[in-house]
Amino acid sequence: MSATQVPFLDLASQIAPLREEIDAALRRVLDSGWFVLGPELEAFERELAERFGARTAVGVANGTEALQLALEALGVGPGDEVITTPLTAAFTALAIVRAGARPVFADVDPRTLNLDPTAAERAITLRTRALLPVHLYGHPANLDPLREIARRHGLVLIEDGCQAHGAKYRGRAIGATGAVALSFYPTKNLGALGDGGALLLDDDEAAARVRELRNGGQRARYEHLRLGMNSRLDELQAAVLRVKLRRLESWVERRRALAEIYREELASCGLDLPEEASYARAAWHLFVVRHPRRDALAAALKVRGVETLVHYPVPVHRQPAFAVVVPPETRFPVAELAASSVLSLPLYPEMSDARVRFVAGVVREAVAAIG
Ligand SMILES: Cc1ncc(COP(=O)(O)O)c(C=O)c1O
Repeated sequence: MSATQVPFLDLASQIAPLREEIDAALRRVLDSGWFVLGPELEAFERELAERFGARTAVGVANGTEALQLALEALGVGPGDEVITTPLTAAFTALAIVRAGARPVFADVDPRTLNLDPTAAERAITLRTRALLPVHLYGHPANLDPLREIARRHGLVLIEDGCQAHGAKYRGRAIGATGAVALSFYPTKNLGALGDGGALLLDDDEAAARVRELRNGGQRARYEHLRLGMNSRLDELQAAVLRVKLRRLESWVERRRALAEIYREELASCGLDLPEEASYARAAWHLFVVRHPRRDALAAALKVRGVETLVHYPVPVHRQPAFAVVVPPETRFPVAELAASSVLSLPLYPEMSDARVRFVAGVVREAVAAIG
């Protein structure tokens, strides 16, 4: 087996050119002596909202809690059902459980692998309170029909944008309207130097509730009107995120250019390639191909020095932890087939065109080798 020539990601290569700015940001916080709920977070929230065209942004500890707090702030809790996709990070569904509600899964669209609006509508019961689509891999879910279903049934719509910083739906940034959760886990399109998250909201009252809930439920110091939690984005992370936020758009452009190279180089080699729906400007958090012999393909790439990952090998409804909330006979054929065939290729803004062409060449060779 050869040593890895192309890693799946290389976060150090993203930090290196920003090193001086990041060092200066960290120094500023260290010198200030103020580490939680301070001026860096306030500035980051303002800049984040502005960049996404959102009314307001609230920084929290991670993407999972951004989703949980959105649900709680919008009145979703015990006894309620929330319809979501089974093809996502299990954290999406975990947030629903942690908010006290029950995740109800509906199958995905076979092209985009995002929540299928028709399947979502079929899953509605008298207990349904919310729809929670995920913009998987950075490709927007089809929001118009989901918004229409939510409107018709009186449901809350909360979007999991944890992989979709920089994506657009019908020309409008994901996050510009509605309630959208972001993760700043280091590998995301906008990543912190540790955990972080935010909620973008167009509702001032909900935003005020999230601000209270993330800080123990306090309205003012030692005045706890709600049962909140501790989910604050600290000053060091906010200061670093401010530096990186300024690059987000150019990083997303770079991801888009590299995705286009992959699509050209891999056309008609026997792989099922990802594409943008007519309504979408994808942020290409991940470049995910599909092949019926996915595991063989991953192994063939590994021996050739290309690292890949699978997002996700087990759909959430088949995860043992979720057996308590999923009826045993539950099957989602599209999501299950996808889980057995998806493979994520290396894609990050610092990759050169030549490197992507090299990987594509290795992929073509590997596909031919596994037959
Ligand atoms: C789609 C999706 N939802 C939720 C999360 C949870 O985000 P975090 O790891 O910041 O809690 C992630 C990231 O892991 C994700 O990719």
